[in-house]
Amino acid sequence: MNVRHRPFVFINMAMSADGKVSSVRREQLRISGARDFDRVDSLRASSDAIMVGIGTVLADNPSLTVKSEKRREERKKSGKPENPIRVVVDSEARTPIDAEVLNRGAGMRIIAVSKRAIVEDVGRLGAKADTEVVVCGSEEVDLKELLYLLWQRGVNRLMVEGGGTLNWSLLSQRLVDEIYIYVGNVVIGGDGAPTPVGGPGFVSEEELIKLELISADKMDEGVLLKWRVINRNRTG
Ligand SMILES: NC(=O)c1ccc[n+]([C@@H]2O[C@H](COP(=O)([O-])OP(=O)(O)OC[C@H]3O[C@@H](n4cnc5c(N)ncnc54)[C@H](OP(=O)(O)O)[C@@H]3O)[C@@H](O)[C@H]2O)c1
Repeated sequence: MNVRHRPFVFINMAMSADGKVSSVRREQLRISGARDFDRVDSLRASSDAIMVGIGTVLADNPSLTVKSEKRREERKKSGKPENPIRVVVDSEARTPIDAEVLNRGAGMRIIAVSKRAIVEDVGRLGAKADTEVVVCGSEEVDLKELLYLLWQRGVNRLMVEGGGTLNWSLLSQRLVDEIYIYVGNVVIGGDGAPTPVGGPGFVSEEELIKLELISADKMDEGVLLKWRVINRNRTG
């Protein structure tokens, strides 16, 4: 497998002015306004696939659909499915059968599991309409393998909508091209409240992921920051 063969990958997240993406209870809070909501919808409509971790599915239960009917129609007119492929990174096939991502809106879903997933759970998810379960990796989901598989299926543009654990894995493996962070005008606080990137973190300056600022624009009552990852793993 060639790691160069992967989609363009970008992360989009909203965080509070103090850098939190949800409450200390890991529950979703409103961070952005109407314009940012519409921007996110437009980004979804421009993507071939949207990826989240199982932590986000369990915490927020997102449907990850394109909300604007006009945008869905435009996608269909250009020969695309009305919603991008929705991808859940879920080693143990824990995605609930009644999760919004599996039940709301038309289009394909891919649940990426590892060899740790038990056969019954894989079968249960695979029996859902428009849902495919793929096995990538032995312990956790092998993200390089998954990105290659998505690329093989024609995914050129992949939007990642968190959470911080998945973002860490992708970033630390240098699999992210751009990061878009909306900084909202609220303070959430809480030592344990999740941030855009979790995981073990880097401890030395040499390891840090270096970013180049693409733009910083006022939007609603907050700021949209766009960053390009400099030392990413994409030479092809
Ligand atoms: N404000 C925002 O924009 C925003 C957006 C999204 C989420 N959030 C918040 O973020 C929180 C959820 O984030 P989270 O960090 O707990 O969960 P997450 O990143 O959504 O999912 C992480 C889980 O994915 C699974 N996984 C499998 N293979 C993996 C791999 N190679 N690398 C990383 N993860 C892998 C692991 O569970 P298994 O081992 O069981 O597979 C892991 O615990 C919630 O509080 C949510 O509200 C906020």
